[in-house]
Amino acid sequence: MTTSPACPACLLYFDDEAAPAQRLAQAATLPAWAIDRHRFPDGELKLRLPVDAAGRLPPRAVLLRSLHQPNEKLIELLLAARTARALGAEHLTLVAPYLAYMRQDMAFQPGEAVSQQVVGGFLAGLFDAVVTVDPHLHRIDTLAQAIAVPHALALSGAEPLADLIAQRRPGALLVGPDGESAQWIAQAAARHGFDHAVCTKVRHGDRDVAIELPPLDAQGRAVVLLDDMASTGRTLALAARLLWQAGAASVDVAVTHALFAGDALQALREAGVGEVWSTDCIPHPSNAVPMAGPLARALRQCGVSC
Ligand code: R5P
Repeated sequence: MTTSPACPACLLYFDDEAAPAQRLAQAATLPAWAIDRHRFPDGELKLRLPVDAAGRLPPRAVLLRSLHQPNEKLIELLLAARTARALGAEHLTLVAPYLAYMRQDMAFQPGEAVSQQVVGGFLAGLFDAVVTVDPHLHRIDTLAQAIAVPHALALSGAEPLADLIAQRRPGALLVGPDGESAQWIAQAAARHGFDHAVCTKVRHGDRDVAIELPPLDAQGRAVVLLDDMASTGRTLALAARLLWQAGAASVDVAVTHALFAGDALQALREAGVGEVWSTDCIPHPSNAVPMAGPLARALRQCGVSC
């Protein structure tokens, strides 16, 4: 544990996120303190938070937890946040580069849980500020509508990904695989003047989507598919197949959140996808765009600094 007696803030992290925690701590010039986690034989968790010589935390604490594979992590957040308050943290910020449970934003069938509201309310009850990247907000405009805290900051990976695409595939044709990706396509295209287009998608099941290409001339073009996330990879794989059929010279993929569940990467390869690039919001071999700098700037906006 790196102690910094003069700093009124610290960054708390779990051992499986030590590398991104160190990058964020360095960018934000915060001391990084690891939370110790023990799993009992019956599956319960015990957390031990790092404290100073007086057994206290600084008045401002930041907890880094990216919420892919989220279920157990929500219990970790509950235990860590309540304990941090008891140990003297008056202001708590959650940095969740990937924020789970945002996609179920309405009851599509009677009786369905609206997870966005339930999980958003849970997080608002624990934290004073939440910072994330490209949360999947489809039917609402701001993160604060899902998580009602004084600082609810949603950054975007679209522009940093666009910078990478401009280096690796100058003159690329940017394509969004569905209507929801239009926002990220617009941001990325505006930054580098890429030609761009957005497909239409109808989802029939977890791994079953139908996609139509928009009117576009992909003949001989280097195409990059850009989206907020790839989960099963089926959306991007089908879009890639259609683009090859339309005469693309290459098809690569750029996503903010590299969820890549199960055989997603294999599905992309089989569809002829070349490179796969992602931000480091979720640790993955495809990570090519670091987000520590923007996250650190967001922390300063939340009033967290040394
Ligand atoms: C939904 O609209 C998202 O932006 C992604 O397109 C979607 O989550 C991708 O899911 P999958 O990779 O399972 O097709």
